[in-house]
Amino acid sequence: MRDEISRREIIGGIGALGALGVLSGALPTEAVASSLPSHGSVNLLELPALPYPEDALEPVIDKETVKIHHDKHFAAYVAGLNKTLKDIEKARNTGDFEHIKAMSRDLAFNASGVILHWIYFSTIGPKAGGVPTGKVGELIKRDFGSFETFWKQFSAASKNVEASGWGILAWEPFSKKLSILEAEKHQNLTSWGVMPLMVCDVWEHAYYLKYQNRRADYVDNFAKIIDWNKVEDRFTTYCEMK
Ligand SMILES: [Fe+2]
Repeated sequence: MRDEISRREIIGGIGALGALGVLSGALPTEAVASSLPSHGSVNLLELPALPYPEDALEPVIDKETVKIHHDKHFAAYVAGLNKTLKDIEKARNTGDFEHIKAMSRDLAFNASGVILHWIYFSTIGPKAGGVPTGKVGELIKRDFGSFETFWKQFSAASKNVEASGWGILAWEPFSKKLSILEAEKHQNLTSWGVMPLMVCDVWEHAYYLKYQNRRADYVDNFAKIIDWNKVEDRFTTYCEMK
């Protein structure tokens, strides 16, 4: 089962996004090329499978929320991105770029939605939480002073996102430091070039069935399901210290 999940994560998640040039350079590209359906020169995405049972995040996140979030919301961003990629390819083929502004906005929104949801579902899990060790743990201490200080800032940022968005722990490759961002919607208020390592979805669809308007309670409990080993994997795969 693990092999299938890994394969589908690679093909539906990292691999397909790599086809967008978003996460290029660390992909088994031959597997992507042979497995993804194609639309002309565009590789379409497949919804990544949930890497644990729908009730695995109980009691922090209830089964129904996980199911709807993954099967409906995440799926909608995948479908939206596939449609946008096809629309843009059609524009290229016909030379009609009258609607390129709207298509560019759709690309930023849907691609960012896919990327952040992929990271969200793959870096949380059961039997998780706690304090990170390894390189990410070292860098959190180096760049924020302590894990406690980091979490105060990260949770405050996540709780205070205006309307719908994300709290994001990211690697900033130019200063080679960790950074905490608040994203509005999926694509706004980013800093070019950062690599998200751990993200907290604070759209209401991520918590409302269980927490209603109590976003702060959801964010506080979110600490219990962060899989820091997966976050460490992201760092070692995509981030360079040199
Ligand atoms: Fe979401």
